[in-house]
Amino acid sequence: MSIHKLHKNITLNRLHAMKANNEKIACLTAYDASFAAILDQAGIDIILVGDSLGMVVQGHDSTVSVTMEDMIYHSQCVSSVAKNAFLIADMPFMSYTNVEQALANATDLIQLGGAQMVKLEASSRQVSIVQELCECGIPICAHLGLRPQYIHKLGGYAMQGNDEASAKELFESAQSLQAAGADILLLECVPDALAQKITQNSSIPVIGIGAGANCDGQILVLHDVIGITHGVTPKFAKNFLAGAIDIQSAIENYVQDVKSSKFPT
Ligand code: KIV
Repeated sequence: MSIHKLHKNITLNRLHAMKANNEKIACLTAYDASFAAILDQAGIDIILVGDSLGMVVQGHDSTVSVTMEDMIYHSQCVSSVAKNAFLIADMPFMSYTNVEQALANATDLIQLGGAQMVKLEASSRQVSIVQELCECGIPICAHLGLRPQYIHKLGGYAMQGNDEASAKELFESAQSLQAAGADILLLECVPDALAQKITQNSSIPVIGIGAGANCDGQILVLHDVIGITHGVTPKFAKNFLAGAIDIQSAIENYVQDVKSSKFPT
C-alpha cells in the first residue's frame, strides 16, 4: 500500500495538535456549497453541517424534524467544495437510539455525505454507542450541555449545569465520553467555570458555544454571524457582518477574533 497524505489541511491530528499548542480552533456551521466555499477560503478549521438547518434553512422552530436524508443531502453539498476545513455532520434526532442504528447512519454520513466525523448529542447514556462507533473507525464529536434535540423534554433552550449536581453529572459525562473514544467535545450553553474545568481536564479539543472564552475553540451558527436571525439572536452570538464590507470579510474577522481570543469576550 502506498502512503499518501490526506488532501485536507485540517485533519483530526492537526486539531489535536492545536489543542496541545493552545491554538484556538475556529468553527462555523454551513449547509450549502456557496457558504462552505466562503468558510473554507476564510480559514475556518471545522465546518459543521448542523441539524440547526431544521431551523435556519427549513424554518422549523426546533431541530427534531430533520431526517437522515436531509443530513446526507446537505453534507454532500458542503463536502463537494470544502477542501481545507475538517467536516463534521450531525446525527439527527432518533438516528442513534442503539448501536446498530447509529453505526448504519453514521456510515451513511461518512460514505454518502462525505463527512470526516459525526456529532451526536450525548450524556453517559450514549457511552456504549460512542465506543462502538469509535472502534469501527468513525470519529465522534460528543455534544454536551444544552442538547437541542431534547427540546420537548427540556421545555426551553436554557443554560445547563447550573447547580452542583448537574455540573458534576456533565463533567463526569464529558470524562466518560472521552474515555469511550470521542475525539472532540462540544459544550453548548454551560457556565464558563464548568466549561473551563472540562477543557482543562480533557486531552481532546473542547469547542464551546455559549460556554465562555476558555474552551479550545468556538462555534456559532453561520446565520447568527451574518445577522440573519429572524429577530431572535442568542445572547452569546455576534453579527460579524455589521462593520465588514462583505460576507467573506465577516467570516475572516470571525476567524481572526476566535484565534486571537477577542471573541467571545
Ligand atoms: O446543529 C448545530 O448547528 C449545532 C451547533 C449549535 C453547535 O449543534
